[in-house]
Amino acid sequence: IIKVKELYRNKANFINKKIEVAGWIRSVRGSKTFGFLVINDGSFFENLQIVYDDSINNFEEVSKLSVGTAIIISGTLVETPNAKQPFEVKAENIHIEGKSSPDYPLQKKRHSFEYLRTIAHLRPRTNTFSAVFRVRSLIAYAIHQFFMERNFVYVHTPIITGSDCEGAGEMFRVTTLDIEGDKKVDKSKDFFGKETNLTVSGQLNVETYAMAFGNVYTFGPTFRAENSNTTRHAAEFWMIEPEIAFADLEDDMILAEEMLKYIINFVLENAPEEMKFFNDFVDKGLLDRLNNVVNSEFKKITYTKAIEILQENNDNFDYKAEWGNDLQTEHERYLTENVFKCPVFVTDYPKDIKAFYMRLNDDGKTVAAMDLLVPGVGEIIGGSQREERYNILVQRMKDCSLNEEDYWWYLDLRKYGGTRHAGFGLGFERAIMYITGMSNIRDVIAFPRTVNNLEF
Ligand code: 4AD
Ligand code: MG
Repeated sequence: IIKVKELYRNKANFINKKIEVAGWIRSVRGSKTFGFLVINDGSFFENLQIVYDDSINNFEEVSKLSVGTAIIISGTLVETPNAKQPFEVKAENIHIEGKSSPDYPLQKKRHSFEYLRTIAHLRPRTNTFSAVFRVRSLIAYAIHQFFMERNFVYVHTPIITGSDCEGAGEMFRVTTLDIEGDKKVDKSKDFFGKETNLTVSGQLNVETYAMAFGNVYTFGPTFRAENSNTTRHAAEFWMIEPEIAFADLEDDMILAEEMLKYIINFVLENAPEEMKFFNDFVDKGLLDRLNNVVNSEFKKITYTKAIEILQENNDNFDYKAEWGNDLQTEHERYLTENVFKCPVFVTDYPKDIKAFYMRLNDDGKTVAAMDLLVPGVGEIIGGSQREERYNILVQRMKDCSLNEEDYWWYLDLRKYGGTRHAGFGLGFERAIMYITGMSNIRDVIAFPRTVNNLEF
């Protein structure tokens, strides 16, 4: 079975040849003696028109097929110089794999993204979601290729953990259930001997591997029980977390910028049709913006300076910007969309609003942190140089009410050959939103888990 994309890419190999294609019917049109079926096979936007006539053995049955039906066609690919599509298939045989009932929800009309979320099991058959999930797959590939080309070691960090990396307490608890009689009993304490959660970040674990391999990364699912019902928060999302040894915050930002530019270039090169589609139908100006991004340097600004800029505009914010408070979405958007109009690193945040592991700056008030903010999405990367000084780290843990004993292995890294090191986390879905122009995180995750949403 040949993919439609392959027919388009290497047309000359297939014209006037017998081929077999398979897909789902997008539209049907017929008369007494012949008909047209338009199918899509998910490899590409372009549909493939199938022409058939009463020379096929199941003409009557095929004439009655409805949208959504899965079929396999064998026939000859012929050029159609006067039609809008370059070729079509003259069917010799149409095998019906699975019929579709007439109440198929994806009839030939435009549906809102809101509606399509309610049929997340069918939406990958639409042009938009077909493109989104092909690009999502490609971005994952690009990310692995980027790190592999640079000899990073891919580390699989655990999903079940006993620690809270970000210290925000917004975790999903893992419970172990056992059946006793007709009751389900919580046996969690018996199993692990302590409370366990789904990981919010693989960072603490991956840091240990950076202290052995130098450059490492994790790429896996993470979970956060943030009760924020926004367009950019999900309870389950994927994160890419590189960690580099013998490196500082500057090196960290260089890596982040190179990585993001690499991914964008990769997608522009390998999914030009999808990117044009997003530019035409989802986010006008997307291609110009991304082309600018890969060809210019990201901006850098300290948190303190950012607050100064924001305060000049405080009248327009719901939450007034103030030194010591975290940046709100409206602040992030103002900085990237009004002030810089490009990706910008905000560095050196107050220690009190950041995690315990970030390296304390000489001013004693800020830490060597960086967030990368981008227009349209806001924060897509959060990273830092890590505190490698044992005593200061212990003090920071005390300040954050963390139990030293729980983190003995993390502290060990500072005892046995600790080095300067840094890393960051890229939110995979936010990166996809940024690159495709999709504006809701629910539309870049196959089966999104958000507040009040667990249908599929
Ligand atoms: O800024 P965060 O919380 O950083 C960390 O977890 C660090 N441990 C990373 C590191 O240094 N290794 O999260 C990193 C990124 C954010 O910038 C954001 O893009 C994404 O993860 N993210 C979310 N994406 C979707 N839904 C959520 N609820 C997210 N929370 C964070
Ligand atoms: Mg963050």
